[in-house]
Formats: sequence, C-alpha cells, structure tokens
Amino acid sequence: MRFRPIGSGFAAALALVALAAAGQHELTGEIEKPAGAKPIVVVAGATGRTGRRVLDELARDGRFLVRALARDAATAKRTIGGGHDWRAADVTKPESLLAPLRGATYLISTIGATERSGPNSPEFVDYGGVRHLVDAASRGGVRQFVLVSSVGVEGEGGFVRWILNFVGGDVLVWKKKGEAYLRASGLGYTIVRPGGLRDGEPGSKGLRLDQDPDAFGDITRADTAVVVVATLGNEAALGKSFSVVADDERRIGAWRQEFTSLAPDR
Ligand SMILES: NC(=O)c1ccc[n+]([C@@H]2O[C@H](COP(=O)([O-])OP(=O)(O)OC[C@H]3O[C@@H](n4cnc5c(N)ncnc54)[C@H](OP(=O)(O)O)[C@@H]3O)[C@@H](O)[C@H]2O)c1
Repeated sequence: MRFRPIGSGFAAALALVALAAAGQHELTGEIEKPAGAKPIVVVAGATGRTGRRVLDELARDGRFLVRALARDAATAKRTIGGGHDWRAADVTKPESLLAPLRGATYLISTIGATERSGPNSPEFVDYGGVRHLVDAASRGGVRQFVLVSSVGVEGEGGFVRWILNFVGGDVLVWKKKGEAYLRASGLGYTIVRPGGLRDGEPGSKGLRLDQDPDAFGDITRADTAVVVVATLGNEAALGKSFSVVADDERRIGAWRQEFTSLAPDR
C-alpha cells in the first residue's frame, strides 16, 4: 500500500482537521492508535553492526517506538538494551515473526547471513528470511518495509561482483531475489543498497544516492543508518531502490534533498 499525498488548499485543510479528529497519521493513514501515540518501527537485525547504528539513529530521531528483533533477545536486551522492546525472532522461522510485526507501521531489515553455506547462509537469510519478513509484515499491517540490501545486486559481471558472490555464498544473487520478492509484494517499500560498509561516525562525508546498477564505493554503517531512518514515512523514498556511497565531492547533508530526483521502480 502506498502513502497518499494530502491535497492542497481548502481540501487539504479539511483533510488535516479530519485526520486530527480521527487520530490518524498524516503519512501512514493509521487509525488504530490513540492520538499522539508514536508509530512502531520494527528493526530486524538489530544486534548487527548496522542494526545497532539504526537503533542509535531511531533514538536520536525520536519519532518512533522501537521493537528490536534478535535471535537471542534476552542477551541483546542485557548487552545492547537502549530501552527498546526486544523480541525474539529468527527469520528462518516464519512463525517467530508474526507477533513481533503485529501492529507495526514500519519495518527496517539489516539482516545478513552469518555463514557462506548451511542453514543461515544467504539463500535462507538474505532471500528466505526477507520473504518471511515480507509475508509477516503484510499480515501485521506494516506500511513501509525498508530493506538494507547491497550495491552490486543490479547489473551483470565484473570482478568485484564475482568475488563478493564467490566469497559470500552467492550473497548478491540471493539478495536480488529477496529484493524482487519485496517489490512484487504490494507492500510500501524502500530498498537501500549501501556500498562496502565501514565503521565510523555519521555525517563526516557527503553521500551520493544513485540508481546506476554498476555503482560501487563505500560508506559507514552509521551514515547508512541515518539514510535508512530518513526514508521512514518519506513519500519521496517510497517504491524506490537506490545505492548510497560516500562521495567527497558532495556537500555533507545534501543527500536529504535527493530522494525526489530518484526514479520509482517499474
Ligand atoms: N559488509 C559489507 O561491506 C556490506 C556491504 C553492503 C551491504 N551489506 C549488507 O548490509 C547488511 C548489514 O550488514 P552488517 O555488517 O551490519 O551485518 P552484521 O553485523 O553481520 O549483522 C547481521 C544481522 O543479521 C542478523 N541475523 C542473521 N541471521 C539471522 C536470522 N536467522 N534471524 C534473525 N536475524 C539474523 C544477526 O543477528 P544475530 O545477532 O542473531 O546473529 C545480525 O543482527 C547485511 O544485509 C549485509 O549483507 C554489507
């Protein structure tokens, strides 16, 4: 489901009054929650290196209630904490995803396979896990699924793509299938494809949002998290897939105006 823009002028004013009276979120149209309640965002992969930065950015942003998913929720709550609502979930076990996604407005996934082959390899996490998340999100009423994928998923050939697939158990092949499943699902979505992930603080470099299938480069996990959170409820990011990499020639922060110039997926 897509967010519908609110019209302009008198009609818009009437619509806003009606939304306020119904306690309805302007962008999501959600009506179940009492007026003033924050929408729930679920973070799958919250224990990961990017997932933790997403939690940091969500806390800084303050617009959301955060449900953080972990295979070992008790340990995550003790070691990461952050006051979030930690829930146990394993993306290879679809039944474990239903309760955590019920009533959520947004889902962010930063999951990634932990082994090259076997039951937690890219086939079962970056593809099968994303499928299970999409299905549970649809059943749970999620309005926007923001999937962290990777540069190199689109396009063909090239040594970098070949080596990533060879070392990573065909990770880009399986990520591409996961992306396609999300795109075809009918859910509102945004697919963010970061370049090679580095540790480091956010906001120290300019970033480039790009739809060139051969875009490569690198980016910090922290900057990736800031971009991901900026897509939540952002109409200009809906139904779009794009890569994001650091670019010294871009002004720091200028990327925030670039969502509107990205083309929607077909
Ligand atoms: N490394 C790069 O340079 C690079 C570049 C572009 C894109 N990416 C992609 O960016 C994403 C984030 O990368 P990262 O380095 O932050 O990953 P990471 O630190 O390895 O974190 C992976 C996360 O996935 C979770 N996970 C794995 N299997 C799971 C399962 N069966 N059920 C539920 N959760 C599961 C892990 O949870 P547990 O704590 O339970 O293990 C962890 O939270 C990944 O999709 C990665 O492929 C990486």
